[in-house]
Amino acid sequence: MDTFTYALPDGNASVLFHRELTVPALPPSGGLYVTDTNTVSLLGTARSFVAGSPTVVLPAGESGKTLASVETILSEALRAGLARDSLFVGFGGGVITDMTAFAASLYMRGARLELVPTTLLAMADAAIGGKTGVDFGNYKNCVGTFYPASSVHVSVAALETLPEREFRSGLAEVLKTALLYAPKLYQIMQERRDDVLRRDGELLLEMVKRCVQAKARVVERDLKESGERMYLNLGHTFAHALESVAGFGVVSHGEAVAWGISRALELGCRLGTTDPEYRDDVRATLESYGWPTGTGHPALAGAGDPLDTARKLLAAMKSDKKKRGGAVRFVLQRELNSTYVSEVSDEDVLGVLA
Ligand SMILES: NC(=O)c1ccc[n+]([C@@H]2O[C@H](COP(=O)([O-])OP(=O)(O)OC[C@H]3O[C@@H](n4cnc5c(N)ncnc54)[C@H](O)[C@@H]3O)[C@@H](O)[C@H]2O)c1
Repeated sequence: MDTFTYALPDGNASVLFHRELTVPALPPSGGLYVTDTNTVSLLGTARSFVAGSPTVVLPAGESGKTLASVETILSEALRAGLARDSLFVGFGGGVITDMTAFAASLYMRGARLELVPTTLLAMADAAIGGKTGVDFGNYKNCVGTFYPASSVHVSVAALETLPEREFRSGLAEVLKTALLYAPKLYQIMQERRDDVLRRDGELLLEMVKRCVQAKARVVERDLKESGERMYLNLGHTFAHALESVAGFGVVSHGEAVAWGISRALELGCRLGTTDPEYRDDVRATLESYGWPTGTGHPALAGAGDPLDTARKLLAAMKSDKKKRGGAVRFVLQRELNSTYVSEVSDEDVLGVLA
């Protein structure tokens, strides 16, 4: 086992890398595990899990990311007689880790929290950095808190059972982190694509470690997303618009992010700030993983006139931002590891969508 520690305003947080899938044991002060219908059987096989421990099993997937699910966790905690020094353990993908952390932040004004991410996305991103939340009123993650787990337990062995679509979705976020902060990780994704796609355990471990370190460093500098943490949204303004216009669930989040990255780099080229060679290099990498990079995403191919579709995407970006009380701002890159945020005219945005 290998441990990585990073600093937060209220103390240090640790990420523990285990060879075998491992959960923290519940302390004498009690605790509970939170998981979903797809991962509960995996929880049963994890080291240190004691059969019969209090366990909340929630419906799997984004549609279960609701206040009602958080209420279920809180009710079970109360029923099990948990106190403030009891431990909440989130075991699952980003949906479960976000909700368990949210519930822990609310219970008795803050119970102990540890997370065991079981998807690539949750290991590399969601479980690190303390953002918690649920979807509310048709908006993703609209209600939540900042509440970092004291320990995150990562075992890439959990990824063996992950469905391909989910694995690839996580890979897109890994690539995003690579472009923002980790040139070596980008090189790995370019040069060892086949090993990545066949889920070579050693390689995945190295990739997840690099992502964890990169994200932890950003969070150390900007926990509450007042500045640099915004960079982690590279590709996401386009991605959210695509997911919304195509209908949620039609395109996986990762595929939407991959396409969004290609659009963001195209936008930078149009504005004259992105190196066209860099754009071409990233585009070739995205395509080598099978992600679409064209102006129009294939999921919108049958949606009618391309300019109308582009306008719908732009409208979706604006409505999202308006409801969140801000202007549409894009995360753009000059080249690998060189990122900035800017507002962009409608004309330029439409120019990379149709
Ligand atoms: N807090 C943050 O900073 C942050 C960052 C990025 C994303 N997120 C959130 O993360 C969520 C997405 O996370 P996700 O992609 O992990 O989705 P998810 O939690 O829905 O998991 C994807 C699917 O895989 C299943 N699954 C999980 N682990 C498995 C395993 N080992 N084997 C088989 N099946 C398994 C789940 O049951 C689910 O059906 C979104 O809600 C997003 O908002 C949060």
